[in-house]
Amino acid sequence: SSDGYFTHKGILFNSKVNVESLKNIENLAVKEDDVFVATYPRSGTTWTEEILCLIYNGGDVEKVKTTPIYTRIPYLEYQYFPEGQTEYDRFLELPSPRLGKTHLPYNMLPRQLQEGRGKLICVARNPKDVAVSYFYFHGINRSFRTPDSWDSFLSDFMAGNVVGGSIFNHVLGYWAHRSNPSLLFIKYEDMQKDLHGTVRKLADFVGRKLPSTTIDKIAEHCSFRSMSKNPMTNYSKHPEQRCRFDTTNSEFIRKGIVGDWKNHFTDIQNEAFNKVLEEKLSGTGLEYDFDI
Ligand code: PPS
Repeated sequence: SSDGYFTHKGILFNSKVNVESLKNIENLAVKEDDVFVATYPRSGTTWTEEILCLIYNGGDVEKVKTTPIYTRIPYLEYQYFPEGQTEYDRFLELPSPRLGKTHLPYNMLPRQLQEGRGKLICVARNPKDVAVSYFYFHGINRSFRTPDSWDSFLSDFMAGNVVGGSIFNHVLGYWAHRSNPSLLFIKYEDMQKDLHGTVRKLADFVGRKLPSTTIDKIAEHCSFRSMSKNPMTNYSKHPEQRCRFDTTNSEFIRKGIVGDWKNHFTDIQNEAFNKVLEEKLSGTGLEYDFDI
């Protein structure tokens, strides 16, 4: 139930996205040791962010309990309060190595990042589960329009008429660059199947060597059970965040499973969705696990 939506370069944004920042981001002077987590919303961003923080501090789980995830890793295109600092400006002030989060499509990323400076981690999740998760998220985020119904939301989602644009265009933009050595493309479903292996893969990618016991410790701290009740990752404690989120009906870290779409899609909705999937993904080589 909110307005202030606007379109920039064909993508729909909510009012918390700062237009100046969108331009600044493209021109950002990227540092070699910058790492960006780029996702379509609800694809495993927070999960990956928490893992990265722990990789960076060598698995010190106490250290990440002192600040919320959104303070540690700026959400580049956002400005939480009209009078406040943009997250882009906050990112510029971070000591290196800097970590940033974005939901922007590939072609709106910093140009230098696209040219191979710095590192980029893209997390993709099967679009049916994203649709469900995003639907619930619209119910808690006060800067998002409340959908009329699940069915109307799903139609908008399939057509790309939602904040962030089309999930299909978004993921394919990243997928096209997957062989670039400065880009790591991972899937939410693979994180579910093998969290230890994913943590190792992420550590290798950002050039940190960690013993297996530390990786186990990180995986344990980043389990759904642990992250969903951790006030530093579940967006529950920060008073400012409370203003943005109304968690009466759902939580930011909600269910954390693969295949929840089965509890929401009707057969007709599933058929329509499969048709769009076929149209968008056939020949691209991109495949998803819809059930594990
Ligand atoms: S956001 O708003 O775009 O930053 O959201 P994002 O973090 O990308 O995605 C939120 C979904 O990720 C789930 N999640 C997890 N799943 C498994 N394990 C862990 N540790 C975890 N942390 C977050 C979260 O529950 C959201 O998915 P749903 O399906 O709604 O539960």
